Amino acid sequence: MTISTPETQSMKLAAELPAELKVAAPFLTTQSWGSYTPEQHAVWAELVGRRMPQLREHACREYLDGFEQIGLRVNELPELTAVSARLAPRTGWQSTPVSGFLPADAFFEMLAARMFPTTTWLRSREAMEYTPEPDIFHDVFGHVPMHAHPVFADFLEQYGAICARLTNARDLERMGRLFWFTVEFGIIRQDGEVKVYGSGLISSHGECTRVLAGGCEIRDFELDAVLDQEFETGAMQPVLYAVESFDQIYEATKQAEARLG
Ligand SMILES: [Fe+2]
Repeated sequence: MTISTPETQSMKLAAELPAELKVAAPFLTTQSWGSYTPEQHAVWAELVGRRMPQLREHACREYLDGFEQIGLRVNELPELTAVSARLAPRTGWQSTPVSGFLPADAFFEMLAARMFPTTTWLRSREAMEYTPEPDIFHDVFGHVPMHAHPVFADFLEQYGAICARLTNARDLERMGRLFWFTVEFGIIRQDGEVKVYGSGLISSHGECTRVLAGGCEIRDFELDAVLDQEFETGAMQPVLYAVESFDQIYEATKQAEARLG
């Protein structure tokens, strides 16, 4: 047995990092799964229990398949190393714990390395519906199941790699809109119905219910319209863009790079 000091922990962490991860390294942390309280597991269970009936009907099939594939459990918070181990043979993505909001360059660097920056804190019972900053429910329940899907996985890596090369603020703003209207608030048409796949819809009961009830204009995904579409992060979305397939957002990301600069 060895005693693990903060110094040896950070040395071990640094030794495990892929060589290419430079700017994001200071933001990496570890998840102390054993420190979650019974109350926190109960909050997770309530959040998942509230979302699943609607998602079984209205989430895209890739999300629901991914939920099973990464081994998420209803009754307890996920252990990120176990989630990453399930993802590894499927797409090579990892759910990597970070200390909070990342600067854009660190965020893109991680996406390009197939490492999803994942927060480990969980909202309290008093903030079940909405948190201004993402928590583990938004990040893991909302985002990570889609990372098990090969095309979405390729899209997200490509998105990170393209954005990591950008230096112009206007280009980054336009690519931020592509992220917002796909990864965060994406919808897709499947079997003649609108299905949700964006984490902001997957993880928010109120917003998802409003969109499914027709409270938001749904337009066909069109790259130029998305790149020009402003949005407010804290507001209900007035317009969303529906894709026909995940190949569409993979191709759109490639086209977007050609149109920037
Ligand atoms: Fe998100």
